[in-house]
Amino acid sequence: EGRPVCILAIETSCDETSVAIVRDGKEILSNVVSSQVETHQRFGGVVPEVASRKHVESITWIIEEAFDQAGVAPAELSAVAVTHGPGLVGSLLVGLVAAKALASALELPLIGVHHIAGHIYANQLVHELEYPFVSLVVSGGHTELVYVESEGRFHIIGQTRDDAAGEAYDKVARALKLPYPGGPHIDRLAHEASEAVTLPRAWLEPDSYDFSFSGLKSAVLAVLNQAGMKGIAFEPAAVARGFQDSVVDVLVEKALRAVQAYGAKQLLLAGGVAANKGLRERLGSRCAEAGVPLLAPPLSLCTDNAAMIAAAAFLKYRRGQFAPFDLKAEPLLKL
Ligand code: KG4
Ligand code: ZN
Repeated sequence: EGRPVCILAIETSCDETSVAIVRDGKEILSNVVSSQVETHQRFGGVVPEVASRKHVESITWIIEEAFDQAGVAPAELSAVAVTHGPGLVGSLLVGLVAAKALASALELPLIGVHHIAGHIYANQLVHELEYPFVSLVVSGGHTELVYVESEGRFHIIGQTRDDAAGEAYDKVARALKLPYPGGPHIDRLAHEASEAVTLPRAWLEPDSYDFSFSGLKSAVLAVLNQAGMKGIAFEPAAVARGFQDSVVDVLVEKALRAVQAYGAKQLLLAGGVAANKGLRERLGSRCAEAGVPLLAPPLSLCTDNAAMIAAAAFLKYRRGQFAPFDLKAEPLLKL
């Protein structure tokens, strides 16, 4: 017991600069997220060079803001945590340098966190986890089914062979002339649709937990091209609905099959695409039918944020898993 454990965490792996202070792995004292979406919007996607420059511009005031909002003094911190991969190398480096500077000035231990472990343990901020569990991680950069045998022991049982689910959402949205990031727009359109365009589902080999979304994306583009060539008016909502149905179908069926095959006690949803209403609804009803407890973070903790990094770091802190001060940025870090 004794003194509370206060962890300051930094997340800069992609286009969100975020700093959080979390007490005892559960209580979010602050979670400041500064999104660069507006900056990248006009390019239709994240431009790595621009992203790292933006992180440099904002990291210092975001750290100050996180302290202010938490009402915590630097001397009250127990450790400094940072995402060291995977992600854009220039972006990761900004967070790493800031974390090392802070940890060394305050003489605190440094904790390196894998970005995906952060997404998974976002659930720990609001739920009680029971091992073993399966996590469906769906974001702009990742689509993975992870079997988590016990605390911190991850086994990737399936992953995308091409585009990540969020990436497919963003590309299809772009083809439909929707703003970046397109996921939420497609989600909304899909719910407004009165009909759905029929699109393929990539089940792959019968026993595979892998995913593939590039064929689906091409099928959407082919539908749009054909309509354009023949001058046929098409319903963007029907395309959005067909696309979403196809993505959700495959994600939900493979996740449930994994839960059953691995004898998991829970299914944890994680990552930016976990905010998708269609996915949440369908997973919710399928899990209820199958008697599988489904956990998902609130929407604000699904997309990139530093509170989730602090949550994962708290577990490492309890185990004394600290990082050396020459901790490297690893764009392709394995879970
Ligand atoms: O986890 P995240 O914030 O960043 C990565 O680590 O990639 O995920 C961002 C992704 C984007 O591709 C965005 O379009 C998608 O999450 N996204 C959604 C929804 N909200 C965000 N995709 C589908 N439906 C949503 N409601
Ligand atoms: Zn992420």
